[in-house]
Formats: sequence, structure tokens, C-alpha cells
Amino acid sequence: MSHEKLEKNVALMGVLIAVAISFGGLAEIVPLMFQAEAVEPAPGVKPYPALQLAGRDVYVREGCYNCHSQMVRTLRFETARYGHYSLAGESVYDRPFQWGSKRTGPDLARVGGRYSDDWHRVHLANPRDVVPESNMPGYPWLAANKVDPGTVVKHMQALRTLGDPYTDEDIAGAAAAVEGKTELDAVVAYLQDLGRHAPRPGERSTAAVTAPTEASSAGGQP
Ligand code: HEC
Repeated sequence: MSHEKLEKNVALMGVLIAVAISFGGLAEIVPLMFQAEAVEPAPGVKPYPALQLAGRDVYVREGCYNCHSQMVRTLRFETARYGHYSLAGESVYDRPFQWGSKRTGPDLARVGGRYSDDWHRVHLANPRDVVPESNMPGYPWLAANKVDPGTVVKHMQALRTLGDPYTDEDIAGAAAAVEGKTELDAVVAYLQDLGRHAPRPGERSTAAVTAPTEASSAGGQP
């Protein structure tokens, strides 16, 4: 009997189990690759300008994601604290994405514009100068390190190869945009733009969304 053969052949059984299980994974992953909401940028979302891209690299290098997520969930206590929940279309140019789940510190997906540049500079050098009870480490070397223009240009070229719509002018102007800037300038520029293109709380987002917004859940009731 063929079934008996199958049960006695461990290798064949293993392969067929893997095939059977992969159907579940494929059914979840493949539709996402084509779903517009997941692959198209939300309105206003553009590839990172040179300085912000350099700042994002610093953010990743320093491991800020070990304590900070960048994803506001669809729960009311999250949206009340941070603003509109995160949309997939906000992070289409994030490679790798910084969503995360570890929140030793607050979520940063909407931190842009919440503080002044000067606040960030002081805070990053020594957080306790502005938030006495903070246990975030200081990053005093960021002010001393210069951004390397060559690296930023190569990074933008690599991202363009992956499909990010950088123009020739974007890339040609990149070196000048980061010339003489410190890593602190870069990371502050990056932080100040986080969440700038998010829909306001309560506003209906123009991207297709499945979860109810504050407006549709509260506003619809008499
Ligand atoms: C060990 C954990 C830890 C690491 C690593 C860390 N942070 Fe923080 N961060 C915190 C905590 C805790 C707070 C809240 C207290 C405060 O404001 O300092 C915070 C607050 C912040 C805030 C203010 C957020 C708000 O809404 O008030 C920003 C911005 C920030 N961190 C940026 C960064 C950046 C950029 C890095 C990497 C260079 C980083 N953090 C690394 C723990 C961390």
C-alpha cells in the first residue's frame, strides 16, 4: 500500500510534511506581496532624504530598537497616547523595518515634532539632563562623529537597485546634503520626521484600512 510505504520512509514523510505545512505559510504571505496597502507608500511617504537616511543608519547601529518600537497598535490606549495607529504604507521604505515590540522606552513612530531639535540634542547626549528619571543611555559620541558622504551615496544607490524611487538628482545631491553634518544632526533629522505623514488621530486615513478608526467607532454613535 502506498500509504504504508510513506509511513515507513522518514525522508519522504519529512518532505511531504514540509510541503503540507508550507501551504499555510504561503496562504498568509503571498497575498501580502500583492496587497496595495502593504506595498504602496501612504500619501506623502517618500524614500528617506540623505541626512535622514544617515540618521536611520545610526539608529540601527546604536540599537535604539532594543528599547524603542516604531509601531502604534490599533488599541485605544495606544492611539490615545501616541496618535493614529501605524499603517503598513508608512514603512514601505524602511529596510529593515523598525516596528519591534520591545518598549523599555516609548514608541517612537510618532515622535517627529513632539520636541525641539535642541531637546533631542541634549537628550541624546545625556537623557538625564532633560528627564531625570530616565534609564536611557547617553550617546555623546554622536556629536563628534561626522557622517560619511560616500557611504550615504552608496546606500541610496543600493536602495534604488531594490526599487526605491530615488532620482539621479537625489543621489547627486546626497553628498552635499550630509557634508559636514554630524551623526547627531542626522539622527535628530531622522527622529523629527517620524510619523509626520501619519493620519491625525480620528481622521480617516486615505489608505485602505481594516481596523475601525477613532472617528468611525466613536463618531457614528448618537
Ligand atoms: C536601554 C533602553 C534605551 C535605549 C537603548 C534607547 N532608549 Fe530612548 N528612551 C528610553 C527610555 C526609558 C525613555 C523614556 C525616558 C526619556 O525620555 O529619556 C526614552 C526616551 C526616548 C525619546 C523620547 C520619546 C518620547 O516620546 O518622550 C527619544 C526620542 C529616544 N528615547 C530616542 C532614542 C534613540 C535615538 C536611541 C538610540 C540612539 C535610544 N533612544 C536608545 C530607553 C532607551
